[in-house]
Amino acid sequence: MKLLLTTLKHTRNPAVYLCRRRCSSPRSSGGLPSLQDDVMVVGSSPELVQTVGSQVEVRPGFITEEEEAVLLQELEPELRKKRYEFDHWDDAIHGYRETERLRWAPPCEEILNRVRSVAFPRGSPLLGPVHVLDLDKAGYIKPHVDSVKFCGSTIAGLSLLSDSIMRLVKENEPSEWLDLLLTRRSLYILRDQARYDFTHEVLKDEESVFNGHRVPRQRRISVICRNLPG
Ligand code: OGA
Ligand code: MN
Repeated sequence: MKLLLTTLKHTRNPAVYLCRRRCSSPRSSGGLPSLQDDVMVVGSSPELVQTVGSQVEVRPGFITEEEEAVLLQELEPELRKKRYEFDHWDDAIHGYRETERLRWAPPCEEILNRVRSVAFPRGSPLLGPVHVLDLDKAGYIKPHVDSVKFCGSTIAGLSLLSDSIMRLVKENEPSEWLDLLLTRRSLYILRDQARYDFTHEVLKDEESVFNGHRVPRQRRISVICRNLPG
């Protein structure tokens, strides 16, 4: 069984197709891109990157260092009171603590409004409380699809404190996948098919490799906005 799993993992390696973020200047060098480059999404085929890639957005540097500090200042006191949960083997998330927040200090609210305005159509009813998920350095999120009963077509998340990799895998079609490089202070948005037909997961440190580049995972806090089912 172990051998089979290893083999299956290796089949994830074939052709990797790149999707550059918009408004980027062209790179001059050839070869394997470095992480400083503008490639945020890679996938198993050009078609997949084209189609599902259009329902996925990663915006590096969506918030500044100062804004990250403001959010952390607001969240840390509450998070610090909780312990990381490691023991629930059936949980989708391993090594985490979390909270939900409805009311935010004005500077945080301003950041969240920016997230909402780029991620959701104007007037789209949103889930009131914002979800805050604090992953320990050893924590990770297993493949899952967010509840269709409670969440709508769009999921938007800010990543604080660490780079990480989010992997999308088509349900019942594991050869179809996308990897997203979620750099520290980036915003990601998953919409429609990417949200409903693909599982998403956040890789553990040992597996955190993006397009051949190691991406060390530290403690990571995500701030996630969702809309309501239509
Ligand atoms: C979740 C989830 C992703 C993240 O909580 O359902 O997928 O960015 N979180 O933390
Ligand atoms: Mn999720």
